[in-house]
Amino acid sequence: MCGIVAYLGQKNAQPILIEGLKRLEYRGYDSSGIALLGDAEVTITKSVGRISALEEKVGVDVSAATLGIGHTRWATHGAANTINAHPHVDYTGKITLVHNGIIENYATLKKWLESKSVEFASETDTEVVANLIGYFYSHGNSRNGTKVPASGNKFEWAVQEALNELVGSYGLAIICSDYPDTLIGAKKGSPLILGVGEKEFIIASDASAIVEHMTQAIYLSDNEMVIANRDGFKTKTIDNIAVSKSLKEIEFSLDAIELAGYEHYMQKEIAEQPEALATCMKGRIDLKSNRVVLGGLQNHLRKLASTKRIILTACGTAWHAGLVGEFLFEQLARIPAEVEYASEFRYRNPVINDGTIVIAISQSGETADTLAAIEQAKERGALVIGAVNVVGSTIARTTDAGVYLRAGPEIGVASTKAFTAQVAVLTMLAIELGRRRHLSNEYAGELLREMVQLPDKVGLILKQSDHIKEIAKANIDRDNWLFLGRGLNYPVALEGALKLKEISYIHAEGMPAAEMKHGPIALITDGMPAVFIATRCSQYEKIIGNIEQVRSRGGKTIVVATEGDENIKQYADYLITVPDTDEKLQPILNVIPLQILAYHAAVLRGHDVDKPRNLAKSVTVE
Ligand code: G6P
Repeated sequence: MCGIVAYLGQKNAQPILIEGLKRLEYRGYDSSGIALLGDAEVTITKSVGRISALEEKVGVDVSAATLGIGHTRWATHGAANTINAHPHVDYTGKITLVHNGIIENYATLKKWLESKSVEFASETDTEVVANLIGYFYSHGNSRNGTKVPASGNKFEWAVQEALNELVGSYGLAIICSDYPDTLIGAKKGSPLILGVGEKEFIIASDASAIVEHMTQAIYLSDNEMVIANRDGFKTKTIDNIAVSKSLKEIEFSLDAIELAGYEHYMQKEIAEQPEALATCMKGRIDLKSNRVVLGGLQNHLRKLASTKRIILTACGTAWHAGLVGEFLFEQLARIPAEVEYASEFRYRNPVINDGTIVIAISQSGETADTLAAIEQAKERGALVIGAVNVVGSTIARTTDAGVYLRAGPEIGVASTKAFTAQVAVLTMLAIELGRRRHLSNEYAGELLREMVQLPDKVGLILKQSDHIKEIAKANIDRDNWLFLGRGLNYPVALEGALKLKEISYIHAEGMPAAEMKHGPIALITDGMPAVFIATRCSQYEKIIGNIEQVRSRGGKTIVVATEGDENIKQYADYLITVPDTDEKLQPILNVIPLQILAYHAAVLRGHDVDKPRNLAKSVTVE
């Protein structure tokens, strides 16, 4: 995890780095640092905690340096303190770098360096990279005896030799005090983008740190490095083979990543869902033919429609969206489907038969476990489809084909609009596959007509925010909550519980409502909140039974029900209503009040909604 940003150009680097780090803070926020290179001297400032603490420490005395690197950290190796915080400097003091990823063979390399009397200051794997480059640079020969070419650039050569020794993942930005005009970046397994401006460059973990300054970028692939100087840049593989990369337009504007009057990104992103859903469906639903058009899958739809099995793989919230997808592929397309935690899938020697299709779901497109599952599936011959939000992300590029979520940048760590867009994409795909199999034209038409109304219906739910806040307030001192739903509302219950725990640190469990009686019912005590998703559906009567089981044991019921359902009122201590829609589409509506509930609970408890403790938006480590 972690975010990196580096600047080389004509302007003062310091404010650009600090601003960039603030944009990347969602990737990790336990410590941070910047290094500025001016007049052959590197100045490093590090701080524990948020970027604001670093900003305070560097002060307003803007350094004149026009080259610098910065880092925001989510600790993996070593505690969150200033010694372990990046940038790291090598033992010679010449090489300074920032790193996102994990060096798996760092212990071996460290031992080798220590045998050469190289001393280490931190507990990090990253310092090994700095020292390895420094060792090769100062000795002019590498571990395998290769010597720096007489006409070559020694800095570039030393970096390249060191990269060839590394096992693991890295996004790196590196400077050398002997080369005040050079910035080197390298990528393997962690994202890295080079923003390209007029005689200026920004290397960053994602485009949000770039877009304020330049609108064009190149996306590095694994095992590639970029060497930028003030006149231009070149890209090559770490095996020293030149590669030419095309410039791409960064697809979002600064507005999309600013708070725009909201107090928190999560609040903004919840509110953006009508628009995000509309954009996700735009041009993809054809109400004349009752078909769905997913451009990125056009060449694979026949194979998809005739597949014998679909495996959906993802982590966290995206995994919950996968559970909805599983249900829909089976119900609408009658294709056997199963959902796998990406982290489990890769290690259990999965059976992938001829004709298995794997769908990887991810907001960031960078989640390490999901990426590893994709690689595993590809190795075994599966066609891998991506449902990804971030354009040009590693998963988007690694999958054979895909559908973008088009939810726009999601910055709050707790995923909201990406979830509803993930479910919308999976629903559209299930309907289209259904149409190619058994689903009637009439029913597909009904579903699609309902789908296009979802943005407006979400808008109506958003208006209940104050009412939901009151419910959160009334239960805010409760430390244990249950979230219960059946059928398609079971994943919604899981997602509601996850939202509450990740930002308000309240313990919450989501489960199929009927399973409660097999154990969790023992937890119910007087006043314990139980959130039921009980909208009109085929299991409505059954879930009423489950609500009664909770009430008779003193639990407080918060019920999400269909508008106009008078019957449900007698079972609800607190009632939240959502507009009616087809049962298959209910997850998209029913999750909205749960997102709002979690948001208010976290604010009421005084937590940092957008940057909850111990979490990061994009988990690029295993
Ligand atoms: C992290 C985030 C979650 C997210 C999960 C998967 O744990 O905090 O919100 O659902 O990663 O991320 P992805 O980017 O693959 O959807």
